[in-house]
Amino acid sequence: MSIPSRYDSCLEICGQLEHPGLATDMPIWIDHTREDTTVDQARIEEVVDRLDLREQCVLHVGVGNSRFAQRFAGRVRLVDGLTVSQEEKELADSLEITNYTVHFLSKYSREFLTTIKNRYDLIVDNNLASFACCKYHFFRMLDNYLWCLRPRGRILTDQRGMDWTVNNDPRWQLTFDDLVALERRFPVTVEKITNTVYAIGVIP
Ligand SMILES: C[S@@+](CC[C@H](N)C(=O)[O-])C[C@H]1O[C@@H](n2cnc3c(N)ncnc32)[C@H](O)[C@@H]1O
Repeated sequence: MSIPSRYDSCLEICGQLEHPGLATDMPIWIDHTREDTTVDQARIEEVVDRLDLREQCVLHVGVGNSRFAQRFAGRVRLVDGLTVSQEEKELADSLEITNYTVHFLSKYSREFLTTIKNRYDLIVDNNLASFACCKYHFFRMLDNYLWCLRPRGRILTDQRGMDWTVNNDPRWQLTFDDLVALERRFPVTVEKITNTVYAIGVIP
């Protein structure tokens, strides 16, 4: 099986098993409580807005200002969220949205499997590889996502968020073709929903 060259150039394993992911101690990158929703997040939301959301369970990875939950919680069964910023968690909790639960939890972590109890129809992650530290943890994240997705569940992401990486590291700037290459490694199909919003769907 050939491995996509994009992933070949990335560090195999960072060795930070207890603290995976980049910038977790840098509020400028991980605390978006006072920032506007990013353009990429907004584009994904436009796609979500057009879906039939009744009874859908959604995991929002990187909750930022929590406006996603404020916009959609009333239309879905539940929104769970992940953040590595205490400030983002405090803001989320202060909203007291009954079907919105935010976990202080890294998407790359092993604790994902013991913390996450729900199963999801949609995972929204506009910064799919932006905080990736190594190949092991990037693929661990995808394993985590696929583990908690329902049959026919989908991960939604956006090209602009995939272009943005911590330290502007070009190795983790993924293209649509890099996502398509994942079809050879995971039971997924990758498609363009719009010119910039992509879906990674689980093959049931
Ligand atoms: C640039 S902000 C984007 C916020 C929001 N999604 C938006 O686009 O408006 C990045 C978000 O990713 C979260 N994040 C960074 N590393 C993470 C990790 N390892 N696991 C989960 N969330 C992470 C941060 O806490 C923050 O909410």
